[in-house]
Amino acid sequence: MRLSKLASEIAESPTLALNEEARLLRERGEAVINLGIGEPKNKTPISAVLSSSAKLTSGEVKYTPPDGLPSMKKAVIRYTEENYNRLVAPENVIITNGAKQSLFNIFYSILNPQDEVIVLAPYWVSYPEMIKMCLGIPVIVTPEDGTFTPSFEEIERAVTSSTRAIIVNSPNNPSGEIYPPKLIEKIVDFCERKGIYVICDDIYHKLTFDRNVAPPAYSFSKKDVEDSHIIAVNGVAKLYGMTGFRIGWVVAPRQLVGVMTNVLAQTTSCVSPIAQAAAEGALNGLQSIVEALRLQIQNNRDVVLQEMRTFNGARLIEPKGTFYALPDLRAFNNNSVELSKFLLKKALVVTVPGKEFGMEGHIRISFAGSVKDITEGIGRIKWALDATSPNEIYIGDRKMIRDWM
Ligand SMILES: Cc1ncc(COP(=O)(O)O)c(C=O)c1O
Repeated sequence: MRLSKLASEIAESPTLALNEEARLLRERGEAVINLGIGEPKNKTPISAVLSSSAKLTSGEVKYTPPDGLPSMKKAVIRYTEENYNRLVAPENVIITNGAKQSLFNIFYSILNPQDEVIVLAPYWVSYPEMIKMCLGIPVIVTPEDGTFTPSFEEIERAVTSSTRAIIVNSPNNPSGEIYPPKLIEKIVDFCERKGIYVICDDIYHKLTFDRNVAPPAYSFSKKDVEDSHIIAVNGVAKLYGMTGFRIGWVVAPRQLVGVMTNVLAQTTSCVSPIAQAAAEGALNGLQSIVEALRLQIQNNRDVVLQEMRTFNGARLIEPKGTFYALPDLRAFNNNSVELSKFLLKKALVVTVPGKEFGMEGHIRISFAGSVKDITEGIGRIKWALDATSPNEIYIGDRKMIRDWM
């Protein structure tokens, strides 16, 4: 079969593939625990349900303007004012089918063939693939000191005359790291001087723990949105646990939003008004939901830390935000794909290999699910890898004996 070389070279989404594998195993009655997917278990906020069902029952479910419904944009404008301290016009905002489409459309709209985008490792799996789809070149910067935070000097060294953007995701998927404010400040200052875009993937910006905060890049710029090189991406997936509604948005200079609007109009026409109404409902509704979700996830993070304390050989940098932990398991195997496969086969636990995020020897554990799944899932991983842990365990109602050490 003749297929596009470019499309054929795009890697499968490992998290979605693993999620599917877990679903199939569960369907076969296996007691599988999914620590792979980043999806909170909460129900959709009621304000979102009411708003979208009102839209549905109105029967007025038609195409919307390609850049989003005016009322949805209004909600984003208010959000931007409250959370980024920036006044923006409707022309600075575009509503997309998830933050994923926001990011793809940004890359498509700013890159010419062979342009480079700096991606900081560990990184979200989709960035390099999206950049390649847009004929750009992802330039990966990996911290040399073994942490999850590259230094400014490491970033600066990777910049060339072809660099068009640096993508910053803090709090970070997959490490849970929050970059120090000083680093963001230096990146913003550098990019503004060089005319390079700072793409801020702020999808987890409210999911921070203890006293940690992730200050928006805008707080380090004196420029208004129109003159700024900052592009802010956000959405409802992680903010309200509304992953299935597929609503994201971008705040950027209007010329870029204009180009992105044409890209969106020619590819997906617009975003479903039912989903936009849901997101609008969530944004205009009670915000205590966000704090409740944050506290629940913080509690889950504490459970992870407690479980990992007795995991001999594993090293974990404490996640300060998101719902991911990225333990270093090189003491057991340097090959994270083998590790993840081994854990699925022996312990029926889904994890994501660190290799997918540019961090070989690590695995990503999502703690978005229930405390029971987290405790049991990490318990099983310890049983499978750590020779000092008890060698008998129950998986479902089957008693398992570790006989490979
Ligand atoms: C860092 C990061 N950015 C963007 C997205 C995509 O978000 P959405 O579900 O709104 O497309 C995700 C989803 O996992 C993510 O982890």
